[in-house]
Amino acid sequence: MFITFEGLDFSGKSTQAKLLYEYLKKHKVKCILLREPGGTAISEKVREIILDREHIEMTPLTEFMLFSASRSQLVSQVIKPHLKKGYVVICDRYYDSSIAYQSFGGKMELNHVLQVNNIAAGGLVPDITFLIEITPKAAFARASSRRNSKDRMENKNTAFYNKVYKGFKEIAAKNRKRYTVINGTLSIDRIHNIIISIVNKKLSK
Ligand SMILES: Nc1ncnc2c1ncn2[C@@H]1O[C@H](COP(=O)(O)OP(=O)(O)OP(=O)(O)O)[C@@H](O)[C@H]1O
Ligand SMILES: [Mg+2]
Repeated sequence: MFITFEGLDFSGKSTQAKLLYEYLKKHKVKCILLREPGGTAISEKVREIILDREHIEMTPLTEFMLFSASRSQLVSQVIKPHLKKGYVVICDRYYDSSIAYQSFGGKMELNHVLQVNNIAAGGLVPDITFLIEITPKAAFARASSRRNSKDRMENKNTAFYNKVYKGFKEIAAKNRKRYTVINGTLSIDRIHNIIISIVNKKLSK
């Protein structure tokens, strides 16, 4: 089973991905926790190139291709082999983030993103995707309570995050079968309980 977490910065994806991972471990379910971009030696190096603040000349296409390269390596080297061995694979962000950030929020054409996503993922679609939904306003509020992180979000303006927010909502609406949208302003425990009830239901099928 392949489970992905999506949502705006500070929505709580990493918090929930980790809690789910620990829960499954505790219940002796074989699982791994990954993050995007990253998760392999090559993908982590690509991550550094993407996140390097000195690379201000990077074009939107280059950025998107780097995300896709990192993803492609992660899917081939780690995700698919683990799924084959019966692991539950949990990924903190996956290709829907490219649709939301690079297409809805950025300059990439949606059609191009969809095509390259499919190529980079080798056709691998998540079984379950959790969209942890908080508004850009709530995300900014969480960011400002953490000093260093604030800079990161303020790099991009509110208009950008509004578009990304809308993008995630549209992606979820178009992929109802695999998507669960969760109100990210609920408590960490409540969100975790919603997530484990859905995962357990799917695991028992
Ligand atoms: N349900 C919640 N209610 C209140 N605060 C939360 C909740 N979930 C997470 N947080 C807090 O919000 C901050 C961001 O959480 P987290 O790092 O999990 O978000 P993220 O979606 O992984 O963000 P990023 O995209 O930046 O990696 C953390 O300080 C976390 O403790
Ligand atoms: Mg995170």
